[in-house]
Amino acid sequence: MHVLAFALFCGAAGASAGNPRFAVASAHPQATAAGYRMLENGGNACDAAIAVAAVLAVVEPYSSGLGGGGFFLLHRATDGRQLMVDAREVAPRALRREHFFDAAGQPRKGATVRGGTAVAIPGVPAALDHLTRHCATLPLAQTLEPAILLARDGFAVDRRYARIAQMRESLLRASLETLVFLDGGRAPEPGFVLRQPELAATLERIAREGAAAAFYRGPVARGMVDAVNAAGGAWQLSDLESYRVIEREPLRFAYRGATITAAALPSAGGVALAQVFGILGHFPVGDAHDPRTAHLVVEALRRAFRDRSLLGDPDHVPIPLARILDDGRTKVQAAAIDTRRASVLPPADGGETGGSGNTTHFSIIDAAGNRVAATLTINLLFGSGLMGRGSGVLLNNEMDDFTLRTDLANSFRLRGGVANAMAPGKRPLSSMTPAFVEDDKGVLVLGAPGGSRIISQVLLVAMEYLRLPAVDLQRLVGLPRYHHQYWPDRIEIEPEGFSAGWKAEMEGMGHRLETVNRRWGNLQAVFQPRGDGAAQAASDPRGSDVAWY
Ligand code: DON
Repeated sequence: MHVLAFALFCGAAGASAGNPRFAVASAHPQATAAGYRMLENGGNACDAAIAVAAVLAVVEPYSSGLGGGGFFLLHRATDGRQLMVDAREVAPRALRREHFFDAAGQPRKGATVRGGTAVAIPGVPAALDHLTRHCATLPLAQTLEPAILLARDGFAVDRRYARIAQMRESLLRASLETLVFLDGGRAPEPGFVLRQPELAATLERIAREGAAAAFYRGPVARGMVDAVNAAGGAWQLSDLESYRVIEREPLRFAYRGATITAAALPSAGGVALAQVFGILGHFPVGDAHDPRTAHLVVEALRRAFRDRSLLGDPDHVPIPLARILDDGRTKVQAAAIDTRRASVLPPADGGETGGSGNTTHFSIIDAAGNRVAATLTINLLFGSGLMGRGSGVLLNNEMDDFTLRTDLANSFRLRGGVANAMAPGKRPLSSMTPAFVEDDKGVLVLGAPGGSRIISQVLLVAMEYLRLPAVDLQRLVGLPRYHHQYWPDRIEIEPEGFSAGWKAEMEGMGHRLETVNRRWGNLQAVFQPRGDGAAQAASDPRGSDVAWY
């Protein structure tokens, strides 16, 4: 079980709107338990979020961590204020074209995924500081304690860890520091107790001094700069000192009476959701798994992902967001869809790469109704495989989320536009889509890992939530998934859950299908019904075993 949903009813106060109730869903039972403990001890959703994020950094080192970034979507109950804390990594200032292209102008193979050139300046520690200052009630010494203990005393790795470590064994054996993730140089068996004393010490420093002093300056910072530069990167201490999270207005839009709030740029996720729902709003829409509606969903995704090439870091390039999301334009896009035939939009050109990775999401609602939806990542499994010297901090390979060249796909087969070109100090475009969906039934808080497929996961679950009058959260997160991202022009489907009849009908409309060899995603959702009902939480069944993406 990775889920703890808990409802307490306050007898003395009667069944008022202030009934205490809370729910936490994360990708790991230890993380959920840590968040839950904060809430039980009187902490709020921010306290729980800090504890969960820190524990995930320890127990899911392949997914997220201090060396990565992410987005925290927040809702404050007292006044309804919603905010996105953008803790996305940024490109180092000394970044140069030569780091990624050779003298002949050819891309250097692997430069965005391995070695020092792959690593962008991490944002998660700054977010922990920021949340502690602005919305938490407990000190870091308390919220980081569960993570510190798990890093110092160790925890028994699960099958998922063992399997992922096996997949990345050669990467982890490549440096002395990352041997910490292995058992005598080999991927461990489930049950192996993983201890990370250096990471524990780094977390303790952060708990004592805050991340600005303990992570972005001093020996931890120097250790990261040394490791990155020894591996061919070009970091400066000033890159770390100047890192700041950015508070952003989330993207908010209405769909058939519901309000959807999701990650803003530099995530492409909220923009894509707004476009897809905007297009779907012009059609009678049924069950997203029924071929007629699935066709419309795919056509809407095709158009949203096509427009993704216009997106990038809004602080570096002007993004025509109002035009992209304009109702009139969405209407024209909808009108161009043949309800029985796949469209052929002008093809993009160029190569293809395969890929897999990992990331993590958690969703929290506290007793007062505060919410946090956070998606955090170091990008691919175990990130760049580089570790800051002496700090236990595993570093991301988020540079792969930039557009290297418009004809080259990244690890998620995404081909971006010039708006997402690399530049010093710039944030790479992301697909991470923490989201809130509010309607008459209540509020759903959700998100997932899965690279570009994050967007379709959140979309399908949100559509099914909105379609039905009753909420069966566990069913929602388990529903079969399909995905389309404009290029390559095919619908990716999970290996289970799509009948021969379904496939024939989709193919009959002119769609190309690709059955992916494993199910993807690890969606985490909590639901707070309106009125006095108990909060619910659900974890993706795909995350509990060895299926991941
Ligand atoms: O920000 C992004 O879109 C990617 N770096 C997320 C990577 C991811 O979700 C890997 N997934 N399993």
